[in-house]
Amino acid sequence: MIASESDPAGADRRVQPAAGILEVRDLHKDFGGVHALAGASFYVEQGTITGLIGPNGAGKSTLINLVSGFTPPGSGQVVYDGEDITGHSAHQIARLGLVRTFQLSSEFARLTVIENLLTAVPDQRGSTVLAALRGKRYWRRAEEESVARAREFLGRFGLTDVEDLYGAELSGGQKRLLEISRALMGRPRVLLLDEPFAGVNPTLAREVEDILRALRDEGMTIVLVEHEMGAIDRLCDTVVVMAAGTVLAEGSMAEIRENQEVVDAYLAG
Ligand SMILES: Nc1ncnc2c1ncn2[C@@H]1O[C@H](COP(=O)(O)OP(=O)(O)O)[C@@H](O)[C@H]1O
Ligand SMILES: [Mg+2]
Repeated sequence: MIASESDPAGADRRVQPAAGILEVRDLHKDFGGVHALAGASFYVEQGTITGLIGPNGAGKSTLINLVSGFTPPGSGQVVYDGEDITGHSAHQIARLGLVRTFQLSSEFARLTVIENLLTAVPDQRGSTVLAALRGKRYWRRAEEESVARAREFLGRFGLTDVEDLYGAELSGGQKRLLEISRALMGRPRVLLLDEPFAGVNPTLAREVEDILRALRDEGMTIVLVEHEMGAIDRLCDTVVVMAAGTVLAEGSMAEIRENQEVVDAYLAG
């Protein structure tokens, strides 16, 4: 949190203009002696899909966790929509519209699919909706709208038939879709996805790719970590290659393929 001298209360948090809707500047994060991030910088244009690739241990998950406020930063800056959000809590960051998916916790395994979506939205009386669903089956207009939105996502992700199953009863792929649907319930402007296709069968993964492209075309910004290069190639407008906690290269997939250093270090073999 940086309060400028002219604004000691820190009410004006606008910083040097960012190049895109999201920019990370020289991020460092150590875990004990491990330099998980060692000066990572890049920016993301609004309304694009950016792929984060790189070998295991490159720092991709650490970066996603830090940007979304789940991991406290070491040094460096995260600028979102012109605001320095470095060190903000995950809750504060999500409320600004920067949302990451998170694996279903055990709590969510004990809720039904639709209940999972209705409790996903902060400050929207999810618990009231839940009580209503389980009790008198009565809800007010705002709650009706939440239910309608939830059902729309269930339709979009092919989960309508499992609406009343418990989270724990879903297949691995369905759980991943539910995680994405939960994130979307909060109307994010930027969606951060860490390996969204892990455990999802190839047919379903292709359908999710279509959904992500449609969300992008509706103006959403998506940053995803993915190992499968085919998916990266089909989906991403920009690719950021990470290695050893830094950004080795960024550009279109075609540009990345022409970067001999990257091909040697990561794409070859
Ligand atoms: N919570 C943690 N505690 C200790 N070391 C960690 C932690 N999270 C990540 N690391 C280490 O930081 C490095 C980067 O990890 P990670 O961000 O998970 O990489 P990636 O997602 O690219 O595989 C690895 O060496 C990893 O072991
Ligand atoms: Mg990872």
